[in-house]
Amino acid sequence: MERPRFASDDPVWKAVGAEERRQEAHLELIASENHTSTEVLAAMGTRLTDKYAEGYPGKRYYGGCEHVDAVEELCLARARSLFGAEAANVQPHSGTQANVAALMAMLEPKDKILGLSLDHGGHLSHGHPKNFSGLFYEIHSYGVEKESERIDMERVRAQAQSVRPKLILAGASAYSRTLDFAAFASIAREVGALLLVDQAHIAGLVAAGVHPSPVPHADVVTMTTHKTLRGPRGGLIVCKEPWLKKLNSAVFPGGQGGPFMHIVAAKAVALREAASKEFQAYARAVVDNAATLARVLSERGLRIVSGGTENHLMLVDVSGLGLTGAQAENALGAVHITCNKNLIPYDPQPPMKASGVRLGTAAVTARGLGHNEILRLGAAIADVLHAPSDESVLRRVRGVVAELTEAFPIHVALASP
Ligand SMILES: Cc1ncc(COP(=O)(O)O)c(C=O)c1O
Repeated sequence: MERPRFASDDPVWKAVGAEERRQEAHLELIASENHTSTEVLAAMGTRLTDKYAEGYPGKRYYGGCEHVDAVEELCLARARSLFGAEAANVQPHSGTQANVAALMAMLEPKDKILGLSLDHGGHLSHGHPKNFSGLFYEIHSYGVEKESERIDMERVRAQAQSVRPKLILAGASAYSRTLDFAAFASIAREVGALLLVDQAHIAGLVAAGVHPSPVPHADVVTMTTHKTLRGPRGGLIVCKEPWLKKLNSAVFPGGQGGPFMHIVAAKAVALREAASKEFQAYARAVVDNAATLARVLSERGLRIVSGGTENHLMLVDVSGLGLTGAQAENALGAVHITCNKNLIPYDPQPPMKASGVRLGTAAVTARGLGHNEILRLGAAIADVLHAPSDESVLRRVRGVVAELTEAFPIHVALASP
């Protein structure tokens, strides 16, 4: 991307340039990443970063907020409209900060939470012992079934009846199946619990209508804006109207100070883009590409956890190939395909080794890869994982990746949503 020329020869710019070239030349399969549009990028680089705006539109602790008020109002209106929500807060700096605010607003310290086990695809902010969630609340976990590797809602119901949590948390970082939010809500009602849904990973799919929405079912829905939603790095909350006052106060002054108004502007741009027909087609392509990738890998003898995917991601169990997830991540990294090692359910390996890799199609779809390219990419991944130290295979696959990245440059594909 063209950027202004600086007199500064700060080596930071050298590293930034190198990272931009890395992104251009590598295929990004990390399921939590994406490539933003140039308009979203531009909004992040504006003077709005200079502005302090503690508080909310019309009720700030600083002067000169009339224009950032307009930006935040637009962002709020777009968030409510895109997700069909009664109320929103667009200030959380990240997905974790959104969860801090939601849990602070909905619970008292030591209250019981029933959430998806971190080993089975849950997130750190859903109860890791060193995270605020694990430190301040009593965490109980549900998991996936050993056989199906899917969440069994009857098992969740039985667990909720025995634990009697104050809050049920639905949402995941590494779960490839559709989440049944209506069932979560009915269980929550049955046991008198609140329902918090963290739709960080699937927010873009929900916005585009290719994953069922949790909004009609949950008291509060948190999300990140930078994964499938393709916005700037950040968090966002939508909720039923009666929760808004408590949530606003839990975000500021509860867990944060001044909002990042340049990021709020970029969120507003991303939300407008996500409401477009083009974005709906993009989200459908993300899911189609993930299904294609899972099918190609299965046909080449790789085991996909739960047998496939219904969203943008999948877990590939590489243990049958005699590899750890860490080794698979490194082998793919060597051919310029970026992904992350990931625990699979009931994994005998520790997290830093793991038995799987997590692959997602949001970023490669954003740069324009379609069905035929995903077939090539899937074959390339299988070739590498079957022969991770065969230099001739690695050289050939690096060539395939170079052809794909050159044919689908990030800066061109993302000039508009
Ligand atoms: C389900 C879920 N919630 C929350 C987060 C946290 O987001 P952040 O990294 O912005 O704090 C993630 C990030 O991967 C996530 O997968």
